[in-house]
Amino acid sequence: MQRKNLYLMLAAAAGMAVAVFLIAERFGDSASAHALRPDDPTTLALGEKVYRAQCASCHGARLEGQPEWRTRGADGRLPAPPHDASGHTWHHPDETLFRVTKYGVAKAAGLKDYVSAMPPYEGVLSDAEIIAVLSWIKAQWPTEVRHKHDQMNAQAHKAAAR
Ligand code: HEC
Repeated sequence: MQRKNLYLMLAAAAGMAVAVFLIAERFGDSASAHALRPDDPTTLALGEKVYRAQCASCHGARLEGQPEWRTRGADGRLPAPPHDASGHTWHHPDETLFRVTKYGVAKAAGLKDYVSAMPPYEGVLSDAEIIAVLSWIKAQWPTEVRHKHDQMNAQAHKAAAR
């Protein structure tokens, strides 16, 4: 499949993709502050616990997301996307993922009127718990996807340093 289908998926997920690219642009600068640690067993143990308790109800026990996740519901909200390789979580650098999880999509993207079903976890999870759950999600991706994500983080870093 790969490239072509992924681009098609991205195009289909336009609204959200736009939102998240905006976030990536704005917050790429502190990419290292919330770097994920998908190889650290202690982080992963905590991350899996947090995922099961806080995220699985929407994003799926197997990270599969909700059905028809690219189509907004009658309330204008998108269903929860998958966090596995079929979604676009891995298209965003660490800092973007951190901000979406901590502050929610609207605030993270600076889109005041954007309504989203993704709850902000500020005050619910500590920064360490947010990094842990995102690290655990990353640890579930195939090696090749993890590698691409590493490269993207490096690029976000470089772009910020310019
Ligand atoms: C009540 C349902 C719900 C819960 C619980 C939830 N999410 Fe979400 N999440 C969503 C929805 C819906 C979106 C899509 C938001 C949008 O664009 O409007 C989303 C989007 C995201 C994104 C952006 C993905 C991308 O491809 O850009 C991340 C990252 C994320 N969630 C992480 C988490 C984490 C981590 C947890 C648990 C700590 C969590 N979510 C819990 C509903 C949920």
